[in-house]
Amino acid sequence: MNIFEPAEIGNLIVKNRIIRSATYEGRCDEQGFPTDKYKELYLELAKNSIGLIITGFAYISKDGRAMQPYQAGIDSEEKIHFYKQITDEIHQYDCKIVMQIAHVGRQTLKQVTGQQVRGVSKKKSLYFNEIPDILKTEEVVAIIERFAAAALLAKRAGFDGIQLHAAHGYLIHQFISSSINNRKDIFKIDPKTRIGVNFLDMIIEQVRQRCGTDFPILVKISANDDHGFTQTQFVNLIRFLDRKKVDGIEISYGTMDYGLNIFRGNSIPIDVLLRHNPRYRTDNKMGKYLWKRFLLPIMKLKIKPFTAMYNLPYAKIAKENTDIPIICVGGFRKGEEMFDVINNGAVDFVSLCRPFICEPDLVKKLELNNNYVSMCISCNICAIMCDTKNPTKCYLKQGVAT
Ligand SMILES: Cc1cc2nc3c(=O)[nH]c(=O)nc-3n(C[C@H](O)[C@H](O)[C@H](O)COP(=O)(O)O)c2cc1C
Repeated sequence: MNIFEPAEIGNLIVKNRIIRSATYEGRCDEQGFPTDKYKELYLELAKNSIGLIITGFAYISKDGRAMQPYQAGIDSEEKIHFYKQITDEIHQYDCKIVMQIAHVGRQTLKQVTGQQVRGVSKKKSLYFNEIPDILKTEEVVAIIERFAAAALLAKRAGFDGIQLHAAHGYLIHQFISSSINNRKDIFKIDPKTRIGVNFLDMIIEQVRQRCGTDFPILVKISANDDHGFTQTQFVNLIRFLDRKKVDGIEISYGTMDYGLNIFRGNSIPIDVLLRHNPRYRTDNKMGKYLWKRFLLPIMKLKIKPFTAMYNLPYAKIAKENTDIPIICVGGFRKGEEMFDVINNGAVDFVSLCRPFICEPDLVKKLELNNNYVSMCISCNICAIMCDTKNPTKCYLKQGVAT
């Protein structure tokens, strides 16, 4: 397999095997409408030879909004027209675009959304630290309908498919995970497989009913949740997705409890965190000192180091258990490594997030030089700044602040 040869995801022919993984943009208005800046971002990526773009997570309904202030929404008819202008232009560059759709469940903040936080159980997220109200069964059913309605809006807006965000501790993942889901209703953990997939199952069924069986459904999952999710549970999840015949599975890692395990780096940008992050911000000198002296070392114990292609071992396990295209995300920086994993059939697609924030023209550079290495040093300032009011961008190119 060659990375620059076309490949299929469902009925989509993608011109190469390099995908832009979902990346929160911070470029919509407060009502979740895409702005010109959102359009510019995607046109720039499309013009630079990316085969498939997966958008940043878009909320399916206002009650599923993230704490990020300028998140995209796909929750109303009026938005279709704005997205359609963008997808039409992107298609002129032989680039496919899939919208990632999500409900955040417990991973949000009341002080930002103005709404009570709601989730699968009373268990709170370590990061967001708010005890959620438990979603009643009929409310869960209503959310499933909203996922399907959002998928149809995305289809009408010209997106080539949707990706269900079932990773990183968001609502679908909260149902899957036995460390969070202690429900007794139909959405409970299956005692045999130790995963809770009825919610996801019903979403997939309803999306197909509304959008047709040929509308591609991709699913992004976390291979581990940092709370004891076992390899057997992971394999059971892959087998479930295999039975559902989804069109592509993207393998990621973790939840926002330890967000830096999702996007790993060589160090924790603690000063940026204490200055800008709404959860950790402090101007107090003593507060900063205590943080660095006592909390940071504790935090570090749970944080995994950056290693090249850090989700590849999980992606290989996924591949052994299904013929559905496997997309691997996390820590792809060297052209050589990307070419190898595709050439030797370890995975079907590679997907990248931070390298494209740093260099939107990365695929073009790889076309010219197969051994090109991304300038992204995984400093994670982009990830920390994601929760502020700034649009997502690279703050440090080649070690130089911009
Ligand atoms: C700034 C930023 C925004 C992100 N937004 C999303 C998102 O909206 N949806 C999602 O599934 N993952 C999101 N991620 C995670 C990435 O898609 C990816 O899984 C992770 O960064 C590891 O890939 P990388 O090493 O290529 O950056 C985001 C990561 C960063 C750094």
